[in-house]
Amino acid sequence: MAEARLIDGKRIAETVRADVAAGVARFAARAGRPPGLAVVLVGEDPASQVYVRSKGKQTVEAGMRSIEHKLPATTSQRELLDLVAALNRDDAIDGILVQLPLPPGLDAGAVIEAIDPAKDVDGFHPVNAGRLAIGAPSLVPCTPLGSVMLAKSVSASLAGMEAVVLGRSTIVGKPVAQLLLAEDCTVTIAHSKTRHLADVVRRADLVVAAVGRPEMVRGDWIKPGAVVIDVGINRVAGAEPGKTKLVGDVAFDEASRIAGAITPVPGGVGPMTIACLLRNTLTAAEQRAERR
Ligand code: GUN
Repeated sequence: MAEARLIDGKRIAETVRADVAAGVARFAARAGRPPGLAVVLVGEDPASQVYVRSKGKQTVEAGMRSIEHKLPATTSQRELLDLVAALNRDDAIDGILVQLPLPPGLDAGAVIEAIDPAKDVDGFHPVNAGRLAIGAPSLVPCTPLGSVMLAKSVSASLAGMEAVVLGRSTIVGKPVAQLLLAEDCTVTIAHSKTRHLADVVRRADLVVAAVGRPEMVRGDWIKPGAVVIDVGINRVAGAEPGKTKLVGDVAFDEASRIAGAITPVPGGVGPMTIACLLRNTLTAAEQRAERR
């Protein structure tokens, strides 16, 4: 079997961002203001700080307004809910993202439910999750949206494909499964209790791995020619002492000898998440403007 085609998430994310920037310019010309994205970061989680910095930079590069609220880890639930309520009322803000995880003691579910669903650019609010489940227009979670866009970059129609989604999380596995169902795939959601997991994955024309276990999916689990989308980002020990590296949920070197197409880690799904967040922010701005 020849080496799999590499799905270049970095390049595809660049084209998404360019499309968004063009849409932002059109929106701003009509509305007299750019779309606004508010990001709320509570506490000092280092990974979250990196994400938030990257989001802010790319928001501005796309021509949008970035509003950052950095709150101490001691912030109370009430203070956080008050901030969300103020952002809901602010007409110049189209998207609200509360960075997860929240520090211990804060109830993420209650905070997400407090966000106006029309501004929920993460697509985590139960109203958006419910709309996705019934096939109604909704704001769709960014990583799932990016994952499906990458699959469609290989094969414009996914109709009739056997798709196996590994992982049943609310933020990745379940929404990916909903999106693939909407693309007319035959969808299986596998998880930690699934029996004969390797055999289940071997049936798949399309595999989406989102379990957070470094290199769990081996090359001999992959059906020859399958499309493999690896959502995992796991930091593990590197070859040299004291050094670390990022690996996915799929053993890339093995799988890329069998698959038809595969996403690398890093440079696959990762760059798509922020690109899709910018896209959702533009979508939210356009939909809010239409409703007025
Ligand atoms: N933490 C890591 N990724 C994300 C994301 O996409 N959205 C939010 N809100 N928090 C995150």
